[in-house]
Amino acid sequence: MQNIQIKNKSTVCFGGINQLTSLRDFAKNKTVIFASKSVKEFACKIEGLLEALGADVYFYLTSDGEDNKSVEKALLFTQFLAYNEIGRNDVIINIGGGTLCDLGGFVASIYMRGISYINIPTTLLCAVDAAVGGKTAINSVGAKNLWGSFYQPEFVIIDCELMQNLSEGLIKEGMSEIVKYAILEESFASFLANLKGSNEIRENLNEILYRCINIKASYVEIDEFDRKERKLLNLGHTVAHAIERYSQYKTDHSTAVAHGLLYESEISYCVGYISLNRYNQIIDLCDRFLGIKRKPLNYEILQLMGKDKKNYQNKIVFALPDESGATVKEFTREQLLQIFQKINK
Ligand code: GLY
Repeated sequence: MQNIQIKNKSTVCFGGINQLTSLRDFAKNKTVIFASKSVKEFACKIEGLLEALGADVYFYLTSDGEDNKSVEKALLFTQFLAYNEIGRNDVIINIGGGTLCDLGGFVASIYMRGISYINIPTTLLCAVDAAVGGKTAINSVGAKNLWGSFYQPEFVIIDCELMQNLSEGLIKEGMSEIVKYAILEESFASFLANLKGSNEIRENLNEILYRCINIKASYVEIDEFDRKERKLLNLGHTVAHAIERYSQYKTDHSTAVAHGLLYESEISYCVGYISLNRYNQIIDLCDRFLGIKRKPLNYEILQLMGKDKKNYQNKIVFALPDESGATVKEFTREQLLQIFQKINK
């Protein structure tokens, strides 16, 4: 599988962690492994690999999960870098899921005004989304991703062997973002629609990863800073972020996105942006790959959508499915209330 190049800044490599040895002359630099406790064994394997090359490795193990994307955790990691005299020519390797890569990428972007970093995602969800594209973030004052930056990882390494051996739970967790890409791109929707059940998902995981990352890369390539086209990658996310906030982050991101895709398709159908055919195609994808069913929309979620950081001039902004992909639309609260009432009838 060929590497994917993004903005001449970031390279996504498919293969294995052995590629680390050929990517860069690590032995000359200090290398900081910033890893999730849940993948300690895998991270130690990488440590061993780098040490065998003569690299000077610093190991920082931390927890993952949304709670860890905090200012306090960012400060602790920054202190670790400073105490160990990590310099601007050194490198951080983030090994873990989405929350870990968000936090590690954020610290890499601000430490000494930015040092190189590499993401090695260990979950499917992270591999198809958070690890790629350079959005870094931590949460603050109760708001998700309030502090953040656009700062591209030098490399993203997709370890295909690790991905092949993910648990069923981690495969399922990645599916909501994968279905999002299928809604955005018809050829990928046809590919996915031909797969029967979870066995075929696993058998085709490399191809799925490659296609999804390629779709994401194409948006980042034309709109790195999320001003226009990249906003379409937020499909399902206006509702999803409100659901997460409503549940005080007890609902995980993947479940929230799954419901967000369903609800936002309902909104799109209700206001006539998509035909019944297209609506049924999306419902079928959600049904088959996400296993979720329609529930009435909750009005408190509507209130919370009013707080989304994408909102503009008092309007709630969505990336809604259209006939062949998605489109950015905005509604006033009153318009949205009317849509909700129509859908909930
Ligand atoms: N997760 C959406 C984006 O990277 O733009």
